[in-house]
Amino acid sequence: MKLYEVEVVARERFGDHALVRYRWPGQVPEPGQFVMARTSTQNLDPFLPRPLFAHDYEDGALSLLFEVRGRGTALLAEEDPRLFVSPPVGRGFEVDSGGLVALVGGGVWVSPLKLLGRVLDRGGIAHDTFLEIPATAPEAYAAWISENYPNATLVPTTETSNPSETVLARLGALERYASLCVSGPVEMLKAVERFSAGMVSAQLALRERMACANGSCYGCAVPVWESGERAYARACVEGPVFPAEVLAW
Ligand SMILES: Cc1cc2nc3c(=O)[nH]c(=O)nc-3n(C[C@H](O)[C@H](O)[C@H](O)COP(=O)(O)OP(=O)(O)OC[C@H]3O[C@@H](n4cnc5c(N)ncnc54)[C@H](O)[C@@H]3O)c2cc1C
Ligand code: FES
Repeated sequence: MKLYEVEVVARERFGDHALVRYRWPGQVPEPGQFVMARTSTQNLDPFLPRPLFAHDYEDGALSLLFEVRGRGTALLAEEDPRLFVSPPVGRGFEVDSGGLVALVGGGVWVSPLKLLGRVLDRGGIAHDTFLEIPATAPEAYAAWISENYPNATLVPTTETSNPSETVLARLGALERYASLCVSGPVEMLKAVERFSAGMVSAQLALRERMACANGSCYGCAVPVWESGERAYARACVEGPVFPAEVLAW
């Protein structure tokens, strides 16, 4: 996949998380699309660029919000590295104006919901946002989320209760919503799939591990239903956002 060197215009670090904003003159990202990012095309450790959701896009600048987990994200969060990114890829959230939308995010997976909220605002589509703040989240992350998602309902959770169900309980009656757009840990995605079935349509953003991100390696295959039969779809091309009823988990 072709990567382009881009100009970084801002970097913030809060707790184990970082935000990197860069000029992006290319294709405008759709909410739920992702880019492949790395700091060098020479240093091959790590060998592969890392997939990160387009967190936001404003005035020609695209931002990435991520948790530092290993070497790839640690390098991306450093002060002065160069930045190489792919154009935004994948199939994101489908925005439809059929009624009130709930945006639901869990843990460090909230990233794509910022751009989604912006696009819904622009289209005049009413939405409520619910973001989980896990007990393990550093205080700096919780403070940043509360400042940057001012209209969201923040839901602190503990490890002893069921965090996903705690967040879903805050939505109240799901029938109030025309659709749910969810980006969270797999337990949250599965809970939404279970509770929304037959009641309200839900779109789930998956974070399958990726290698090529162009559809050729099948490393990101997820089980789906196709004409009643179990089949596989590639999260990097047919996803990473899937309608809940399509997934054959
Ligand atoms: C489509 C997509 C979008 C993503 N968007 C974001 C985002 O917006 N913000 C963000 O913080 N992260 C996001 N991720 C996850 C991010 O890509 C990984 O955390 C990153 O690749 C880890 O690279 P590393 O070199 O830092 O760590 P590594 O050394 O590669 O891994 C560190 C640890 O993280 C685990 N890990 C690696 N990849 C994943 C994954 N996909 N899911 C769960 N655990 C993983 C590894 O098993 C290991 O335990 C996204 C992943 C995908 C597939
Ligand atoms: S990562 Fe290679 S097919 Fe999706």
